[in-house]
Amino acid sequence: MIEHRLIERVIRLWEGLLDTVEEGKAADTELLAYGIDFMHTYADRCHHGKEEDILFRDLKKKNLSPELARILRELVDEHVISRNTVKELSCARERYIAKEKNALNDILAALKVIVNLYPAHIQKEDKRFFIPCMEYFTSPEKEAMIREFEAFDRNLIHEKYKSLVKGMESAKGVKPQK
Ligand SMILES: [Fe+2]
Ligand SMILES: [Fe+2]
Repeated sequence: MIEHRLIERVIRLWEGLLDTVEEGKAADTELLAYGIDFMHTYADRCHHGKEEDILFRDLKKKNLSPELARILRELVDEHVISRNTVKELSCARERYIAKEKNALNDILAALKVIVNLYPAHIQKEDKRFFIPCMEYFTSPEKEAMIREFEAFDRNLIHEKYKSLVKGMESAKGVKPQK
């Protein structure tokens, strides 16, 4: 839930960006780039990663109520929509910089999906999902999950920069080292 508060701040910035583009101003490609990196690395890899790879994984082993099982399926589907939409937004941004026609419309469409989806997604998790789900876990199970969250977070910075270096090497035709 703490991580949701940071994601909401980026969504608010993107709502502002959407308003300015709808008023006919140029899209702020820098704000888009920072936001896309945030959504990719923080919201999707770090935050959804902990939800999907740890919390949801363990919840799927429990005999959830039909209501919680339904919400779990919706949350997973919403993560997929968000992941795909951020990818579309990133491509539209590249095309916008290359002055391609329609790119701005695609930016607008993707931003609208994201700013509509996230507040509702976060509210569903905060108000209707996380707290009732905790009743399915014992205290040792919850403690083990927290430890796994921490290990997941610790590993991320290494994962991100290893992949960045690999990308730079492949762009330069350098053989990657082990
Ligand atoms: Fe989520
Ligand atoms: Fe979340």
